[in-house]
Amino acid sequence: MDFNCGALREENVGGDAVLYGWCRYIRDHGGKLFIDLADRYGCTQLVFEGEVGRKAGDIGKEFVIRAEGKVRKREEDTFDKANPTGSIEIFVSAFEILGKSEVPPFELIEEKRKFLANDEMRLKHRYLDLRRQEMVRRVLFRDKLTKEIRSFFWENDFLELETPMLVKDTYETGSRTFLVPSRTMPGKFYSLPQSPQMYKQLCIIAGLDRYFQIARCFRDEDPREDRQPEFMQIDVEIAFKDEAYIEGLIEGMLVRIFRNVLGKEIEGKFAHMDYSYAMENYGSDKPDLRFENRIVDITEDAEKSDYNILRRVVEAKGRVKALCFNAGYGSGVQKMDKNYMLGMIAHAKALGLKGLTWLYVKGGEIASEPQSIADSLGNARSGILKKTGAGEGDIIVVCADTSERLLLEVMGKIRKAMGERIGVYAKEYAMLWVENFPLFDKDEVTGRLKPAHNPFSAPTAESVRFLDSEPEKVISRQYDLVINGVEAGGGSIRINDPETQRRVLEAIGMRKESIDRSFGFLIEALGYGAPPEGGIALGLDRLAAILYGEENIREFILFPKNKRFESPIDESPTPIDGKRLKDDYGISLG
Ligand code: AMO
Repeated sequence: MDFNCGALREENVGGDAVLYGWCRYIRDHGGKLFIDLADRYGCTQLVFEGEVGRKAGDIGKEFVIRAEGKVRKREEDTFDKANPTGSIEIFVSAFEILGKSEVPPFELIEEKRKFLANDEMRLKHRYLDLRRQEMVRRVLFRDKLTKEIRSFFWENDFLELETPMLVKDTYETGSRTFLVPSRTMPGKFYSLPQSPQMYKQLCIIAGLDRYFQIARCFRDEDPREDRQPEFMQIDVEIAFKDEAYIEGLIEGMLVRIFRNVLGKEIEGKFAHMDYSYAMENYGSDKPDLRFENRIVDITEDAEKSDYNILRRVVEAKGRVKALCFNAGYGSGVQKMDKNYMLGMIAHAKALGLKGLTWLYVKGGEIASEPQSIADSLGNARSGILKKTGAGEGDIIVVCADTSERLLLEVMGKIRKAMGERIGVYAKEYAMLWVENFPLFDKDEVTGRLKPAHNPFSAPTAESVRFLDSEPEKVISRQYDLVINGVEAGGGSIRINDPETQRRVLEAIGMRKESIDRSFGFLIEALGYGAPPEGGIALGLDRLAAILYGEENIREFILFPKNKRFESPIDESPTPIDGKRLKDDYGISLG
């Protein structure tokens, strides 16, 4: 009878079994050969002796074999308690090699992974990497997660709808797109969708009022740990509902996921925070609220000090801000030392600040290395202690800059890095809705306005009057979902009238012709009975990583791109022959 490699138990002892799998671990004990046969279900010990054993000598690591034999109980002292099949073994009577293997370039057994291949090697031979138990766990985790998501939406009357992958290029907004040349219409291009956004709106206009899709998206962005050029979104759109309904829906989905996938109960109502409050207090529009540590303004205190670096910034109308961490500095449980803080100074400089001053509290007083810094703070010290609430052994980080936005953003990153370093969290998961974003962002370089999220988010009723006169004051009906400091998702109530849609696109500097060229089809559709509606998209890869407690989303994607967004397994992207480009697509290079 056929069994998988994780199935057999003591009750099977005495029976016959046929197993198929990969020869993961081979030990030759002189006359007795042991092979751990593995598949995605588990691992079973095979024992070969006598004639069968001699033949089995040809078997190498990761060979695929079929083995048959009797299930027998192992000697008690050889039980492998960590393995569910660990009290039995198969005494092999016959076997067949079904697929040979080259010697694997890295170890697939977790305990032997001291010499684990680097990421590049793992990605190059991903089919081997995916055989590892830990990777199987992640694949199964993601599978369970997607199943729960689908069940949730189906049970709530949503239709799973598919939108196209070859779409119109609308590069004026959003990030860069991947282009696909048309062969039949030389000189014309499709682009790969950055998200199904406009198409899901069209579904709603079509009357398909509850839409969801686990959708593939493509973005030609700069690489980052939590980004991939192609990724998956849990994409949702609903007619006739408001922010509260959509947020409640997603809260319900997450309660279910936590319960059924992680076996954990969470509070079903998430916290809410305004964008401006988040920026001012946490230096981020996605604050990690597992720890409180807020950024406080100490400009008035710094003004009173003799510390020139700070005073000069205050005189130039800049701001001085501080952050405090319970670092146990100078104690036996010190979480950060001088070297770490020197690293933070370098980090702050790399992020654009001129520097960073760090202080600590000793004997109830602010101290520093060298002490002269703390001394020069003079009367500012009591104010700093009070505002930061710093206690014994705490480290206080002080930064100053003439650009308050840059100052807050850098301190937000330092807050996150130091918070994670301390690693003491009030809660395991901190969920948060961030709202009341400005509709537009100013591009620091060009000074032009661009959509803070996407150009389809509706302005709030109270702020829409500023759209033509002072567009920077317009607030959008956008909501972002933040989990543990990661932007897990974002959505909004959409514009549903053609006129407002045009005005928003005009506000970002688009002319009528380019609006018509890029978004004419959507604006036209908005003129044929578009209901009030909204939606959201959560990054599925990100959600899987956050819930599993892993930083890198690559670990949850079967065949991800590397840090340079290349694909080590097939070496894409590859150059394409100029003649083929010319002949097939009418494109000439250079
Ligand atoms: P947004 O651009 O915020 O919204 O994307 C939604 C979520 O998708 C995930 N995400 C990514 N994950 C991995 N790699 C990437 N490069 C990447 N980019 C984004 C994030 C993000 O929160 N159309 C809107 C949604 C809407 O309004 O309904 C949109 O795409 O988790």
